[in-house]
Amino acid sequence: QHLEMELDSIEKGGYEHFMLKEIFEQPRSILDSMRGRLELEAGHLNMGGIRAYERKFMNADRIVIVACGTSWHAGLVAEYLLEDLARIPVEVEYASEFRYRNPVITERDIVIAISQSGETADTLAAIELAKSKGATIFGICNVVGSSIARATDAGAYTHAGPEIGVASTKAFTAQVTVLTILAMIVGHKRGTLSDTRLRELMVELNSIPAKVEKALLLNDEIEVIAETFKDVPNFLYLGRGYNFPVALEGALKLKEISYIHAEGYPAAEMKHGPIALIDENMPVVVIATKDSSYEKVVSNIQEVKARKGRIIAVVTEGDTVIPQMAEFVIEVPATSEVLVPLVSVVPLQLLSYHIAVLRGCNVDQPRNLAKSVTVE
Ligand code: G6P
Repeated sequence: QHLEMELDSIEKGGYEHFMLKEIFEQPRSILDSMRGRLELEAGHLNMGGIRAYERKFMNADRIVIVACGTSWHAGLVAEYLLEDLARIPVEVEYASEFRYRNPVITERDIVIAISQSGETADTLAAIELAKSKGATIFGICNVVGSSIARATDAGAYTHAGPEIGVASTKAFTAQVTVLTILAMIVGHKRGTLSDTRLRELMVELNSIPAKVEKALLLNDEIEVIAETFKDVPNFLYLGRGYNFPVALEGALKLKEISYIHAEGYPAAEMKHGPIALIDENMPVVVIATKDSSYEKVVSNIQEVKARKGRIIAVVTEGDTVIPQMAEFVIEVPATSEVLVPLVSVVPLQLLSYHIAVLRGCNVDQPRNLAKSVTVE
C-alpha cells in the first residue's frame, strides 16, 4: 500500500495530480514540439512530414480539419493561423458530424486530422471517408504508432510526451505549436508570409516556452480566484480572434473536471444571447490581451460590468485600463497575436484545475469521461 502510494507520487513528479504536472510541463513540451523544427540560428523551419507534400500544400484549394474535443479547439486555432499566414481557406469540422454528412471532398483537398491519442473512433472514420474521396490526409498525433498516425498519408508528431490526465492540456499547446510551424512553412512557401515576418515570428515562437513559464507563476494568484468562484453554478468565457478558441477550451476544461456548466463564446456574439444570462452572480472570464480586437473586447467588458457580471480578465502585462473594470486580473506576458493562445490558455487550465480540486472532484479521472474514445 505504502509502496504503491510512493510509486504514484514519483509518477506524478511530486505534483498532486497528473493534470497539474502536465500543465507545468508545458514550457518543456512546447520546446520538444519545436525541436528540430524551429532552427533559429540557421534561420529555417523544418517539418519532415510535409516535405513530400509541399506541392500539395502549395496548390491546395482548401484545408479541412477534422478532430474532436480539445483537438478540435486546436483545429480552430489552426484555421486562424492558416488563413492568416498561408491564405488557404480552412474549414474545421467535428469528426463525428463530418463522417455522416456526405461532405464535398476532392483530391485537391488536404484533410488535417488532429488527435492526441490517435485512437478516436470518429476521427479515424472521418479520415477513412476523406481518403475514399481521394483527399491527402495529414495527421497530427501525440501517440506514436497510433491508429490515426498509421492511417494518414503523412504527418507530424506533437512530442508532448504521455498525457495521463483525461483533460488535455500539454497536448493542446503541442498541437498548436506544430500547427503554427506548419502554417509558417506553408505561408512562406506560398509567398504570403514575407521573410521579415517569418523571421519575427520565429524569434517570437522561440520565446514562447519562457513566456509560458512566466504564466505558470500565476498559479497561487489563480488559486485565490478559484476559491472565490468555486461554488458558482455557471461560467461564461469570452474571447475574440485567436482567443475565441481559447475561450472554448477554457470552458471545456471547467466543464470536464469541475462539473460546473460553462460556455465559451466569441465576445461579439454575447449580445445575441448570452448577455441575457448576466447578473451579479455570473462570472465572466474574458481573454482580453492586447491585439487587434482589444478595444472591442474592452467594450464587451463594459457591457458585462453594466449588468453587474463578475469579470475575471486575462490581460497583457502592463494593461492599465482593464484592471479598473475587472474584479480579477490575470496578467500574461505579451506575445505576437498569432501565438497568443499558447500563453493565454495556461491560466484557464490552472483556473479549472484549482476549482475542481477545491470542489473535491477527481481531477485526473473525471466522471463519465475517457482519455480516448474508441467507440462511436
Ligand atoms: C476525449 C478526451 C478529450 C479529447 C478528445 C479527443 O473526449 O477526454 O480530452 O480532447 O477525446 O481526443 P483525441 O485523442 O482524438 O485528441
